[in-house]
Amino acid sequence: DWTMAEFRATKIAEIRAQVGDKRVLCGLSGGVDSAVAAVLIHEAIGEQLTCVFVDHGLLRMNEREQVERLFRDHYNIPLVVVDAEERFMAGLAGVTDPEAKRKFIGGEFINVFDEEAQKLGGADFLAQGTLYPDVIESVSFTGGPSVTIKSHHNVGGLPARMKMALVEPLRELFKDEVRLLGKELGLPDIFVGRHPFPGPGLAIRIPGEVSKDRCDILRKADAVYLDEIRNAGLYDAIWQAFAVLLPVKTVGVMGDGRTYDFVCALRAVTSTDGMTADIYPFDAAFLSRCATRIINEVQGINRVVYDYTSKPPGTIEWE
Ligand code: XMP
Repeated sequence: DWTMAEFRATKIAEIRAQVGDKRVLCGLSGGVDSAVAAVLIHEAIGEQLTCVFVDHGLLRMNEREQVERLFRDHYNIPLVVVDAEERFMAGLAGVTDPEAKRKFIGGEFINVFDEEAQKLGGADFLAQGTLYPDVIESVSFTGGPSVTIKSHHNVGGLPARMKMALVEPLRELFKDEVRLLGKELGLPDIFVGRHPFPGPGLAIRIPGEVSKDRCDILRKADAVYLDEIRNAGLYDAIWQAFAVLLPVKTVGVMGDGRTYDFVCALRAVTSTDGMTADIYPFDAAFLSRCATRIINEVQGINRVVYDYTSKPPGTIEWE
């Protein structure tokens, strides 16, 4: 695609001009955006870039391993993986308000980056995969008064104490354009085609208090659901599909015993940019297959429901 080839060349020149011979730290989230940003910046400045992947314990199944494989084996880009599960879980204990969760996670991300930057002897720039919709959705609701719907974790700049400037080469792009750029840069299709995943991760898919146990339950349910979606050949037809763990227990019966476990909600939407979305109309047989497998395979869940809400009035994530 000639447009993306041009964009790539222009951005590489811009990044070089902005960064000079200084060091850049890039935060990876496991998603497409930050991966594309990192590969683009690496192409521009090579070894001046170090990527930092924070494992906050809020990742999907096997996500950390996939990121490690892509960056270390496929691209040979310097990568630091920070095991930060304990401090994120400790900080999230008792936090139930969605914006409070987002603010804590965003702040703690920055703290971890700051620490890693110091360990590397300082970095002058922090790179992020911020996209155009992230920028506008954090600022105001389209067409309306200025109201924050959600504080996206990577928007809003850095605290004053940090001397790092931001490098955000994807700030003008929409998701479909980022995917084209990723292809242009040679990222494997399976990575480029991945469903979006929010920086705050599973924390915003567990209404109420987040804990490691709840994350473990959700990770398993999500993996079963995505496995069914892939088996049915539907993955690429869907913008985003994921499981949500509701902090509500309901009564069920299994064998001849009573169960009293959590509810799992399944979400799947189609969209072109994440700004609006329609629900994916699975057939009933597919959904009941997912429900049966999740309840059989995931201890802690005994009821599965499907979310029929479009955006608007819903948002894609639950928090
Ligand atoms: P919502 O829930 O606002 O989500 O309809 C729109 C799209 O943005 C993703 N999302 C985020 N991505 N950091 C991100 O990088 C965030 O804090 C964040 N919050 C939501 C969401 O997954 C969907 O694709």
